[in-house]
Amino acid sequence: MSAARGVPAPADLRDLAVALAREGAELARDMRRGGIEVADTKSSAVDVVTEADRAVEDLLRRRIAEHRPDDAVLGEEGDDLPGTSGVRWVVDPIDGTVNYLYGLADCAVSVAVEVGGEVVAGAVVAIWTGLTYAAARGEGATRDGLPIRVRPVPPAGERLVLTGFGYQREVREHQAACVARLLPEVRDIRRMGSCALDLCHVAEGAADGYVEAGPQPWDHAAGGLVLAEAGGRFELLEGRTTPGGTPARVVVVGSPADGWDGFVSTLADAGFLESVAP
Ligand code: IPD
Ligand code: CA
Ligand code: CA
Repeated sequence: MSAARGVPAPADLRDLAVALAREGAELARDMRRGGIEVADTKSSAVDVVTEADRAVEDLLRRRIAEHRPDDAVLGEEGDDLPGTSGVRWVVDPIDGTVNYLYGLADCAVSVAVEVGGEVVAGAVVAIWTGLTYAAARGEGATRDGLPIRVRPVPPAGERLVLTGFGYQREVREHQAACVARLLPEVRDIRRMGSCALDLCHVAEGAADGYVEAGPQPWDHAAGGLVLAEAGGRFELLEGRTTPGGTPARVVVVGSPADGWDGFVSTLADAGFLESVAP
């Protein structure tokens, strides 16, 4: 692919996203070998950032500027960069920073590409293993180059559901209350620690659904496309992030497309969604 001004095909953008995310994951892996410490905190004392988060984001931004100098960039650790090409990169240098800090499994570099506001390509690369999930709009989803699909929908009450928690106390109180109502209605709940990988896990049939109130575009953009391209459905639904908070389209939901309505109704009953807010 050239660095021309035109917009490349989704498959070409995916390939570039994969190359960038792999390089980022390699850098994060190398930096962790030398030992890594908390460099700063953000929204709360437990919302941490490490030197690796910053270094990987800097690397991704440098590479994007080299390959696609007219594109916009939205990244978790830096300022919004405007562009003129209609293409925007949405990057999370490390999704699952707390896992990364402690050396736990699920952490990844997430790189998505939007054209005209729609996500058309994405890559999620696991930091320790280099396992690579990728998708291009209309071209399917892959894990290390092989096609992946969601698993068949289980009977009601037998879903394995992935979820996550934000970093602010009042957000967690609301999330915990919803999860407490959801738990008796499903097979079980897992909190793995990376929204991007959670969505890929649903895409590869390793879980039956994902729900979390509050993740940001850099958390879900690439994983959401991987899931949609693997026979899943991915949407931002209306809900709250705090008990009395303003309803907004902030509840991130993913599941196999077939079982969507049943899953959404279970989530509504648990209080995640606006339609039934206990
Ligand atoms: C977090 C992870 C986590 C999710 C949080 C995110 P970070 O991203 O995706 O699984 O529950 O909402 O903020 O902070 O590790 O990039
Ligand atoms: Ca994240
Ligand atoms: Ca992050």
